[in-house]
Amino acid sequence: MSLTSALDIIDLTPRIGSEIRTDLDTLLSSRCAEMIRDTLEQRGVVFFRGLQVSDEQQVAIARTLGTVVANEGEDGIYKISLDESVNQRAKYLRGSLFWHFDGSLQPYPNLATLLRAVRLSDTGGDTEFCNTYAAYDDLPQADKDLIADLRVVHSAERSQYYVTPEMSYDEIAFWQKSPTKECPFVWTHQSGRKSLLLGATADYVVGMPVEQSRALLARLRDWATQPQYVYRHQWEVGDLLIWDNTGTMHRALPYAVDSGRLMHRTILAGEEPLQ
Ligand SMILES: [Fe+2]
Repeated sequence: MSLTSALDIIDLTPRIGSEIRTDLDTLLSSRCAEMIRDTLEQRGVVFFRGLQVSDEQQVAIARTLGTVVANEGEDGIYKISLDESVNQRAKYLRGSLFWHFDGSLQPYPNLATLLRAVRLSDTGGDTEFCNTYAAYDDLPQADKDLIADLRVVHSAERSQYYVTPEMSYDEIAFWQKSPTKECPFVWTHQSGRKSLLLGATADYVVGMPVEQSRALLARLRDWATQPQYVYRHQWEVGDLLIWDNTGTMHRALPYAVDSGRLMHRTILAGEEPLQ
């Protein structure tokens, strides 16, 4: 079977998001892995529908695309739920309702994440993604010049103010134990492409007055999350979705803690340092 007939790619918006139609054997065989990775990098988000993927198969598919993060949940599957009886760290997952990319505080942010819908909420719970490559490409030249050499400090503490606006002293002290990380405003990838680095952990721009810094971070987040850069995924049970974590931001739309919504996540280790 030729590659072109094994795989159909349907773009869902001009700038981000594609459905890939194929069969499970093709995915597990890895013969289209390179094409899927290329599509992922170009389109930010891809998904497969109606394939009845098991946990083991999800991890096997992930292995064809990169290196599975071994300490992520049991056997490469981590349960995403806001219900503490399902996930003891559910409280921290509430931060997923705000625009972010994963691993901003790590030396190698995750390459990609695979998410499979096991159970859905009756209402809410769509996931939105924005393409931070496209958002950078479209910036006016004056903004590209403005941010070219700027550095941004990211912190776990900052992201928690979205979840708990009036944190106690003890809560602040807890989050401040996590080391902060300085990142460029613009990520120049090994491919030469550039993307914007923003999100809930972005705390302040180094060397810039605080008001100006907050305003700039908010202005560019607003820019990057304009409708033309955003794909909103309306889940069906069984959907297996992959996002390029190095060229997108994401957020879940609100849903009830007791809705039963459950996603099984597998993470691919980062391949590009962020420094
Ligand atoms: Fe996330």
